[in-house]
Amino acid sequence: MVQDISGMIHTLAEEKDAVILVHNYQIPEVQDVADIVGDSLELARAAADLSAEVIVFCGVDFMAETAAILSPEKTVLLPAPDAHCPMAGMITGGEVRTLRERFPDAAVVAYVNTTAEVKAESDICCTSANALKVVESLDETQVIMLPDRNLARYVARFTKQEILPWEGYCYVHDRIIIEDVRRARADHPYAELLVHPECRPEVIDLADHVHSTSGMIRHICASDKGEFIIGTEPGIIHQIEKRCPGKHAYPLSEKAICINMKKTGLENVLRSLESLTPRVTVPDEVAVRARVAIERMLRI
Ligand code: 13P
Ligand code: SF4
Repeated sequence: MVQDISGMIHTLAEEKDAVILVHNYQIPEVQDVADIVGDSLELARAAADLSAEVIVFCGVDFMAETAAILSPEKTVLLPAPDAHCPMAGMITGGEVRTLRERFPDAAVVAYVNTTAEVKAESDICCTSANALKVVESLDETQVIMLPDRNLARYVARFTKQEILPWEGYCYVHDRIIIEDVRRARADHPYAELLVHPECRPEVIDLADHVHSTSGMIRHICASDKGEFIIGTEPGIIHQIEKRCPGKHAYPLSEKAICINMKKTGLENVLRSLESLTPRVTVPDEVAVRARVAIERMLRI
């Protein structure tokens, strides 16, 4: 059955000149129909560079919005229209304007996990893969990083610039605690611990390495070690098993599930391709300003 639906998806995608972009946290069946599976940065680059007329975005809303901002001429589809990243809702455009009044000399770096309206009020975007590089590309010595406090504090460890974090967070990563590390280390004493920079500082302190989702996969494939504890959403383990044969990956916490990333299934991908809905669009006046911040990041 999965085989039938996958086949129908591939046939329709070809007919409609569609490309299927899939985030590393999606369910295995959806990862397996992807043209590209990646982290936020890789998927944003793909959305900007690919020539297909239709992009089917299997991820959450801000990712599809980013694709729509970068390629307004393309039809960008979000098969699960209610796949919302709660962290992206933790700051508004109005709040960014207030921050700018309070800190007129500071640069504003918006994590891609934000709304288009927030990107439009920011100087530049970043993802978990390039946050430090983005901050260090700026002339300003004071940098507001929003909305993720954990990513901001992680970057602050490595730069002389003064980082002003907004107090947002990802509930999935914030839920991982020191006790999970103790338990996982005891269960897998020979495994390396990799965590995402959205994790709490005290969890990051105990990790061997900190990476974006695709950074973890690259690290594991290149490592001479065989076992890894993964401090991020466990959907990534399917991609690790596919791309890094012979390596074993264990979730740091079984509770770190992103419900919104699990809302996309093969059925809604198929329906979306058949109907070319639900389509994600961003009003021009917002998109024009948000594009400046995203493209500035992509040039780094
Ligand atoms: P990555 O960019 O590392 O894939 O992370 C995206 C995300 O939403 C993490 O929670
Ligand atoms: Fe948002 Fe966290 Fe889910 Fe990533 S894992 S999409 S940051 S809620």
